[in-house]
Amino acid sequence: MSGKLGGAVIGYGGMGHFHVEKMCEVRGIGLRGIYDIDPKRSSEAQSKGIHAYESREALLADPKIDLVTVATPNDFHKEIVIAALKAGKNVICEKPVSLDSEELEEMIAAAKQYDRLFTVHQNRRWDEDFLTIRKICESGTLGRVFRIESRVHGSRGIPAGWRECKRQGGGMLLDWGVHLIDQMLTMMRAIGAKPVSVYGTCTNVTNTECDDGFTALVRFDKGPEWVVEVGTNTFVQIPRWYAMGENGSAVIEDWACNGKIVRVHQRTENNVAPISAGAGLTRTMAPRNEKTIHTYQLHKVKADWSEYYKNVVATLNGRAEIVVKHDELRQSMKFIEAVFESFRTGNTIRF
Ligand SMILES: NC(=O)c1ccc[n+]([C@@H]2O[C@H](COP(=O)([O-])OP(=O)(O)OC[C@H]3O[C@@H](n4cnc5c(N)ncnc54)[C@H](O)[C@@H]3O)[C@@H](O)[C@H]2O)c1
Repeated sequence: MSGKLGGAVIGYGGMGHFHVEKMCEVRGIGLRGIYDIDPKRSSEAQSKGIHAYESREALLADPKIDLVTVATPNDFHKEIVIAALKAGKNVICEKPVSLDSEELEEMIAAAKQYDRLFTVHQNRRWDEDFLTIRKICESGTLGRVFRIESRVHGSRGIPAGWRECKRQGGGMLLDWGVHLIDQMLTMMRAIGAKPVSVYGTCTNVTNTECDDGFTALVRFDKGPEWVVEVGTNTFVQIPRWYAMGENGSAVIEDWACNGKIVRVHQRTENNVAPISAGAGLTRTMAPRNEKTIHTYQLHKVKADWSEYYKNVVATLNGRAEIVVKHDELRQSMKFIEAVFESFRTGNTIRF
């Protein structure tokens, strides 16, 4: 493809606004307009000088559009993605790509049939907290890492609207879960590790129809064991990341990447004074003598979600390979299905 790519967004809601911004900001692509089923959203776009197509068909028929981003509620993704591919457009779909693996296969088959790029907005691969913990774990500073815990917690339940509705792909596993699972699988793929099993539980505290939180305990054929967790009824702050290695531990408390790395340089301690633990005394759990450890500040890895669009544009111009690939989407979707199955059956699911 040569010249500036023409971009359009279907679904001008919370995330649609973000995509419009990116299409205006990233070099090599320009926004041609949006389509939203809700006329109020179209009027809002027009009031900002953004062209609002009168129908999805009109948008897809515009030959100046090369790339369509689909940012509608989850239950519309498959239908709109396939229609856009059929119209000869390259497509970015919001996460979760689909409601299940079956839908995803239909979407991938359409991309093949119409020979167009089809990828998914896994923007949180460029999150600074993720890249920071990844760098810590991969740098060897903790020694062999045997456990990583990745958590996102809020206290306001599931947002109202389609996210509360099962039929529309609501619930936290298909929402935040998709991001955290994608991050985990991305990091583990980099060391050639495959998931072996998952035990998952979901919560239904504020919403009985959809999961309003979940915990997944995951084992891989090599590398660390993971805990991935999302909660929406949690009133204390829980660290975003926690990694444990043979020679140290790291914690990232929050999105700003406050946290620390503690490395041990003298494992054996003499004359450890016991501490009170409840009614008893313990040396095992007594805090370390500060002289046997080093504490380091975190060096946040800088990143930007624009990298996602830059990669898509470069791929369409034949200058890069797409980062978010079909097999990775398949793996994430199978994984999510396994968590649901584990919750339903009470069993550990083997891959
Ligand atoms: N990648 C991320 O970080 C991230 C963050 C938030 C949401 N999302 C995803 O983005 C998508 C949209 O979420 P949102 O928070 O923007 O939702 P939203 O409800 O704010 O916006 C959805 C918009 O789509 C419109 N719409 C609904 N059906 C449509 C149809 N058939 N055709 C055209 N327009 C239609 C609605 O009128 C609304 O304006 C979801 O798939 C969600 O999971 C991704």
